[in-house]
Amino acid sequence: MPLVHMGDMLRHAYQHKYAIGAFDVVSLDFISGVIAAAEEKQAPVIISLAESHFEYFDFELLMAAVERAARRTWLPVAIHLDHGETLESAVRAINLGCTGVMVDASNLPLQENISRTRSVVDMAHACGIPVEGELGYVPGVEGEDAERHPGNVVYTTVGEAQAYLDATGIDFLAVSVGTVHGRMKGEPKLDFERLNEINRVLQIPLVIHGGTGLSDEQYRRLIDNGVTKINYYTALSDAAGRRMKDNGSNHAATGYTDIAKGIAGAIRQQTARCIELWGSAGKATELLEYCRPCRQVDHVILYNVDGLDTEGVNSMMQEGQRVLSAIPGVREVVTGHAVQHDASYRHCWLVRFADRAVIKSYKEHADHQRFANERFRPYAGGRVSIDFE
Ligand code: 13P
Repeated sequence: MPLVHMGDMLRHAYQHKYAIGAFDVVSLDFISGVIAAAEEKQAPVIISLAESHFEYFDFELLMAAVERAARRTWLPVAIHLDHGETLESAVRAINLGCTGVMVDASNLPLQENISRTRSVVDMAHACGIPVEGELGYVPGVEGEDAERHPGNVVYTTVGEAQAYLDATGIDFLAVSVGTVHGRMKGEPKLDFERLNEINRVLQIPLVIHGGTGLSDEQYRRLIDNGVTKINYYTALSDAAGRRMKDNGSNHAATGYTDIAKGIAGAIRQQTARCIELWGSAGKATELLEYCRPCRQVDHVILYNVDGLDTEGVNSMMQEGQRVLSAIPGVREVVTGHAVQHDASYRHCWLVRFADRAVIKSYKEHADHQRFANERFRPYAGGRVSIDFE
C-alpha cells in the first residue's frame, strides 16, 4: 500500500532538507518512466496531473493508470492535482484518487485568492487531503516557450504569505521567487533572500513551480531555503519530443509504435537525474516508515425495503448513485441486489471513501442527509452497516 500521506512526505523532506520531484504526466509513457526512475533510485515521488493539460488526455482514464502504478510499486507515492483552478476541480480530483490538491488562484486579487483557497482547504481537509496554495505569480505555461507567455513575475511577499497562510490553513505554499514555467533562454535570476525570509517566517514546506532549466547550484540553494517539492514538466516533455523526432527521422518508422518507441526510457533518464540532484534518492524505505499510508474506507449497508416496488428501489438507487458520488471524498458508489432469493438482506450499498476523515464529513454533508432522510431511511427499516479498511 505505498500511497502515502503527502503532508507527511513533505514534512520529512522539510526536516531533512531534500526535495521530492512532482513530475507532471500526460501519458502512460510518462507514468512508466517516472516510476521506473524512482524505483531505480529508491526514491519517493509525486505524480502530478496539471489541469491545463486536461485537453490532451482524459483525466479520469489517466488517473486510473496513475493510481494502479502507485499501488503496485513499493515506493512511497503521492498523486497530486497541479494548478487546479476551482473548488469543483479539487473535488473531482479527490474523488478520482488524488491524495493532494493544488488550488491556483494566484491570478486573483489577494482577498479572492484567500477565499477560493479557504473553500478548497475546508473541503479537502474534511477529506483528509492536504492542499498547496500559491501566492505571487509564476509566469509561462509548462511545456511551452516562455517568450510566448511573457507575463511578468509577481514575487511572493513575506507579509502576504503570512496573512495567506493564517487565513487559509494551507499545508504547502508555492512561492514565486523568479522561476518561470516552460522553456526559457538563459538561467533565471532567483531571489534567495526573499525565499529565505519566507521560509524563516512560515516554517512550512515550500514548492517551486517552473523547475525546468535551473542550475545545480540553484536547486541546492532552493532546497537549503525550505523548498521540498519541485514541479517539473517541460524537460520531460522535450526529452519525449526529441525521442519522437529521432524516431520519425528514420524512414522505416511509419506507425505510432515506431514513433513512440523509447519515450518512457527518455523520461526515466531525466527523472533519475532530478531525483539524484534533489537529494531524494535512497529515501524510500525511511519515508515508508515515517508516513501514514493513504487508506480508503468502505462504507457498506445491507438492507431490506418496505413500501417500494422494484422500480421504486431502482430509482432510489440511481438517485443515490448520482447524489452521493458527487460528495467530496466519495471515490465510488456501488449498489446491488442479493443474488440468492433467501438472503437475509435483499439490497446493498457500498460507498468508498478516500480516507477515514470522510466518514464524518459524508455523514454531515447536506446532500447525504437529505437523501438519507427523505429517500432511503423511510423505506429501509431493516439494515446493518459497517465501515471497514
Ligand atoms: P516547468 O515547465 O519549468 O517544467 O515547470 C512545471 C511546473 O511548474 C508545473 O506546475
